[in-house]
Amino acid sequence: MTNIGSYDERVKQFDWSISEKELEYSDGNIINIGWYCSDRICDKGHGGKTALIWEGQGGVEKRFTYNDIRIHSNSIGAYLRSLGIKDEDRVCLFLDRIPELYIGFIGILKIGAIAQPLFSAFGDESLHLRLEDAGTKAILTQRKHVGKVRKVLDQLPRLEHIIVVDHDGKKPLKEKEIAFSMEAAAPVENFEIFPTKAESPSVLHYTSGTTGKPKGVKHVHYSLIGQYLTAKWVLDLRENDIYWCTADPGWVTGTSYGIIGAWSLGVTQCVLDSGFSADAWYSFIERHRVTVWYSAPTAIRSLMKAGKEAVERHDLSSLRHLCSVGEPLNAEAVVWSKEVFGLPFYDTYWQTETGAIMITNVPGMEVKPGSMGKGFPGITALVIDPKTYEPIVEPGRIGLIAFKPGWPSMMRTYWNNEATYLSKFNNGWYLSGDRARLDKDGYFWFVGRDDDVINTGGHLVSPFEVESALLEHEAVAESAVVAKPDEVNMEVVKAFITLKPGFDPNPDLELKIMNFIRKKLSPLAMPQEIEYMDSIPKTRSGKIMRRLLHAKEWGEETGDTSTLEDDE
Ligand code: PRX
Repeated sequence: MTNIGSYDERVKQFDWSISEKELEYSDGNIINIGWYCSDRICDKGHGGKTALIWEGQGGVEKRFTYNDIRIHSNSIGAYLRSLGIKDEDRVCLFLDRIPELYIGFIGILKIGAIAQPLFSAFGDESLHLRLEDAGTKAILTQRKHVGKVRKVLDQLPRLEHIIVVDHDGKKPLKEKEIAFSMEAAAPVENFEIFPTKAESPSVLHYTSGTTGKPKGVKHVHYSLIGQYLTAKWVLDLRENDIYWCTADPGWVTGTSYGIIGAWSLGVTQCVLDSGFSADAWYSFIERHRVTVWYSAPTAIRSLMKAGKEAVERHDLSSLRHLCSVGEPLNAEAVVWSKEVFGLPFYDTYWQTETGAIMITNVPGMEVKPGSMGKGFPGITALVIDPKTYEPIVEPGRIGLIAFKPGWPSMMRTYWNNEATYLSKFNNGWYLSGDRARLDKDGYFWFVGRDDDVINTGGHLVSPFEVESALLEHEAVAESAVVAKPDEVNMEVVKAFITLKPGFDPNPDLELKIMNFIRKKLSPLAMPQEIEYMDSIPKTRSGKIMRRLLHAKEWGEETGDTSTLEDDE
């Protein structure tokens, strides 16, 4: 028996109060995600149960019980309070996947502050933009990343504390830096948790849009109602599961399902903080007897490349349920996983903005390889006409993926950017920015994004951000950035540039430009290739026609080019 039971029955009789009841929450009461993920599980008598199995570089392992999570997060919360951090202050987590990241997240939420996780591979410029926009007051980081914070500190007057969680005393701390060790801190047994309510802000995740400015997606504590139930019904998490979510908490999957979903259900989860290799991943599953695995298509395609032999070198018989998110999951990947693991990957579709799974395959439902499944119960998901914003009823016609607003984990706004938030709604629908078609059975089939955003290996990249970085180089006159097909990442970033007079289009210059932009962009946004052009195709009004360059890369028809500047 699966947690969801019958999908069709659940759709017929659904109310979010199912989740509220299980969490013993009622309207108007206190709801604090930090408390739900630690204290509540202890109160239910599971304080001694393992909450986190962590493995770092070189196989170092640490384990934390729910009681450890409770006490360590109390210590972190108390320490932040002692620094003057209060509710709604933004506290950034700029950490590798170390225990302090997961437990620090809980500690921040417990004092009612807003957790702002940022991917630790970000460079100083990416970090600067996001900390400045959020007006971040404190940042938790490691020795290896503190240099990036130092570089931009001058430009961040609102950043008051740089908390180094692994300071070893060897090098002196600099301006605003303080050392704090979670495990060495005095245990805080009793802690007054801030009485957050449903609409109190909880998490601020930054995501890329079409413009170069990253958008801060603001979530609230009530999001738990959606994250808890989707983790229970879609990931099918149960009491004795060993769950592995491979996403980094710098991205929304790593918080909604890599922290909140599993811990609010009192499930044991594991984290692997080291690089990817098929053997390393399979032996991790084998060693910890992982039962439920939530990963992403890029990783799955890399595993496919490593072949069946790599699977056969390990005992993966513990696996019970597999899910995927972040990019289109090819039908071949589902067929392959059935063949080698005896289980299909269940595709799930959602966004930073939606906070939780929206369209999905659930256990018990027929999986159609290549399809994203159907709307989660309680979610009105549909495909609408891009011109009229009216629902498309006939199967097969491509339209925009839209949702009826009102689910618990929906973002509440974009930080400092209400206008862009409001622009995401039309005719009463929330517009996802993706295109899809429905089949006759109501399954969604992903078609592509409706904007120019590039999805490379599950990471969204704004073409404008890359174009702007290129334009800052002295040799670059114009730039245009599009996605190019790639076997593993599905899409990679490709840049087209024209040069200013006096510069020679040679490989040496390309290398120089690459090195120049590397300092400005996150490693994920770096172009794989730069192509020199004599001119960049533009509309009469001067807008870059990325569509045309995109079509060229993908070997597609170029369509209507009548507005091309060069046609004039
Ligand atoms: O384009 C869709 C793609 O990823 C976008 C959301 O990215 P992000 O906010 O970073 O969140 C990723 C993890 C929740 C979507 O607008 N995407 C996400 N899941 C799928 C997908 N594309 C195809 N199939 C999916 N299952």
